Amino acid sequence: MTRRRLGFSTRAIHGDPGARPDWTPVAPPLFQSSTFTNPIGSTSEVLYSRYGNNPNQTAIGKRLALLEGAEAAIFVASGMGATALAHLAVLRPGDHLLSSEWIYGGVHRLFAQEFGRLGIDVTFVNPVHSRSWKQAMKKTTRAIFVETPTNPLLRVIDLEPAAQLCKAEGLALLVDSTFASPLNLRPLEHGADVVIHSATKYLNGHSDVIAGAVAGTESLVEEVRKLMQVWGQAIDPHAAWLVDRGLRTLAVRVERHNATGLKVAEWFAQQKPVAAVHYPGLATHPDNEVARRILNGFGGMVGIELRGGARAAERFLRALTIAAHAPSLGGVETLVSEPRLTSHASLSAEDRARAGIPDGFLRFSLGLEDADDLIADFAHALAQL
Ligand SMILES: Cc1ncc(COP(=O)(O)O)c(C=O)c1O
Repeated sequence: MTRRRLGFSTRAIHGDPGARPDWTPVAPPLFQSSTFTNPIGSTSEVLYSRYGNNPNQTAIGKRLALLEGAEAAIFVASGMGATALAHLAVLRPGDHLLSSEWIYGGVHRLFAQEFGRLGIDVTFVNPVHSRSWKQAMKKTTRAIFVETPTNPLLRVIDLEPAAQLCKAEGLALLVDSTFASPLNLRPLEHGADVVIHSATKYLNGHSDVIAGAVAGTESLVEEVRKLMQVWGQAIDPHAAWLVDRGLRTLAVRVERHNATGLKVAEWFAQQKPVAAVHYPGLATHPDNEVARRILNGFGGMVGIELRGGARAAERFLRALTIAAHAPSLGGVETLVSEPRLTSHASLSAEDRARAGIPDGFLRFSLGLEDADDLIADFAHALAQL
């Protein structure tokens, strides 16, 4: 009998279910152990948690591979660690990387400051003009890096043009898919070679872990594993156990984030003090057509521009009682942050405005609270302006 292909939620909970002997714990035990006994005289790899072969670490790697449709996946100590190792696995000194200019600030710093020291040259390009990739290519270009949806404007990058160029030129396409999670976007289905996550966000989903992940071919993940071992980037077993718990509810959480995201974005679009709403599910969003084509859901991240600028933003934030003022995203609780003080703090107010992020811009990571309660909280805060 051929086995039915299991759905996303079932894979998120059970992975690839095997035989279940009697008296097996339903929840996985936590192997909070740095090392394991090994057979005397054995030449096989020893079990040691820095090697990433602790059962809590390996279980979540296999599960993510099933969710991304990848041959293999590996979790590491942070999203930054995952981004650094994935690139070091495909680039060598003398290579050139083409990166989208709309990326997380920490990754921008990694590319602009650290990669140069390793002899890796990086050019930043505008990712929506598909021709810009080709125009910026050099003889030494080996890879393209894209983050989608982007922070905080939620631009959705069409992966097909970059993927076609990569196929034609023999480059690797790496995609940071943190904001989407594998429920909303599976980059490998759109021609990407490597998927990167800050698992700190939706994959874990409870704001209690720092972790990262890389998915791709067996050989790519093996290369990342080797680098992880020598650069000391393994995920702690307890963090891995928490991510395992988080992955089990990924599907229902992200479905709820999607529903609340759309409802709140539509509501904000009706409010007078709000000059603009950025959400890929709205017809007014510049990438609405791309988003409808490649995303399975529009996500729980929403950006708004308040008419009153920074003063209005501060008043709004002080009036909130449910949503918390905090950076990061992807957890069960709603968080709000101001890009002028976080991701875009290094730019002048004029440069931020030119980048489409004027003062008064607020970024929401909508949680799993009742959407009506969130809307009431936001309505009360808007009424204070
Ligand atoms: C899109 C994106 N990629 C990578 C990172 C880095 O992840 P971490 O904080 O887990 O190292 C972040 C963190 O905010 C992020 O938003």
